[in-house]
Amino acid sequence: MHAIDNELLTRTGPGTPMGTYMRQFWFPAMLSSELEAGGAPVRLQVLGERWVAFRTESGAVGVVDHLCAHRCASLFFGRNEEEGIRCVYHGWKYDVTGQCVDIPSEPDGRAFAKRLKLAAARVHEVGGLVWLYLGDEETPPPFPQFDVNQRPAEECVASITLRECNWLQALEGDIDTCHVGFLHLGGIPADTFPKGSINYYRQLDLAPRYEVVETDYGALYDAYRQGSPTETYHRIGQFILPFYAMTPPFQLDSGAAHLRAWVPADDHHVWLIELRHGDVPLTRDADGKPMPGGTIGWDYLPNTSDWLGRWRVKQNAANDYGMDRSRANYTGIDGIPLQDQAITESMGPIQDRTREHLGSSDRMIAICRRRLLREARALADDGAKGASALSPERFSAIRSGNMLRPEGADWLEAYNAYREEWSPGIGPIERAGKPVIAGVE
Ligand code: FES
Ligand SMILES: [Fe+2]
Repeated sequence: MHAIDNELLTRTGPGTPMGTYMRQFWFPAMLSSELEAGGAPVRLQVLGERWVAFRTESGAVGVVDHLCAHRCASLFFGRNEEEGIRCVYHGWKYDVTGQCVDIPSEPDGRAFAKRLKLAAARVHEVGGLVWLYLGDEETPPPFPQFDVNQRPAEECVASITLRECNWLQALEGDIDTCHVGFLHLGGIPADTFPKGSINYYRQLDLAPRYEVVETDYGALYDAYRQGSPTETYHRIGQFILPFYAMTPPFQLDSGAAHLRAWVPADDHHVWLIELRHGDVPLTRDADGKPMPGGTIGWDYLPNTSDWLGRWRVKQNAANDYGMDRSRANYTGIDGIPLQDQAITESMGPIQDRTREHLGSSDRMIAICRRRLLREARALADDGAKGASALSPERFSAIRSGNMLRPEGADWLEAYNAYREEWSPGIGPIERAGKPVIAGVE
């Protein structure tokens, strides 16, 4: 990859092409539970911009520029009072839309206040998460109706972790299914797992073949290999513009739903914001015991009020992620998310993609990068809005998972049949040309 493309892909601050592109979309930014009605304001950093978030006594959420319009004191120190936030320097007050509503330090404060408005995000709460729209359209795009967004919020599990690297290399771990057999389950023979289980087939063949199909919302891949003697084992995963992924840890028809958003905090830090409904199975051996190192937990450091002080993981670069090389697994690191965290952070704050050598198993990554470059350039050069204009109901049929199908059966046809079942009338995903079978870029 050329350095110029890597720059375009990875820089997301205000005014950058990728940052402008991302600001067209709704995305989650924090947990609803982080904002207490009438409680303390929270520093929130996304896409390199600094905001202060607060919830008024009546429950409305404000996410406004953290610098006061008067002389730029931080509203983090502000008082959350009477449906607004009041700067403690000279008492100017703003409502949840950023509108200045009170200037007690001026004789004609009311008229002056009317002319002042802070930048503010549009806010929508779904699934226990606070979603933002930071774009400049008067009417934001329709809210994304992801499968998991339709599930009862009280049954969903939402979590956030801060990862100390650029958003793109972190996301690329989610659409790189072939690393599972190494980083997470390396050295474990297939027959450790129940015969016929998805782990069994995956470990039997560590070099699957791939097909990637671009869609209106992004791209999906099928990684396939031999399953039972007469069947093929398929793993289907999703990339959804601009920074969402769905990995395939369960069966396609399990009924579980999940979404992983890689929301840049700045170009060297990313929030992994995950929303899940239903069980993601632990990696278990034939006796039903979790595999060594195959847990899915992690520990948090205590949150602080700093810009990057929330949701930091205790097992981090400073302690080699708790690695113990005598541990009976591939990495010596305990826990699948921590193994991912260690390896993507080890690439450096922004991976230098001019140094890499892609293989056929990186096809999904290569196609998603090209798509992102195309979308961001089309917006910057021609004002073309691309996928953000999609009708939201289309997102409900985006799902990931595993399936076994008779040898020679078309996986996309099978996937399209599921789509129709999940969202009647949605229509099939079509291949743009001939099926693209794995080949080195
Ligand atoms: S700086 Fe905020 S009121 Fe003066
Ligand atoms: Fe992983």
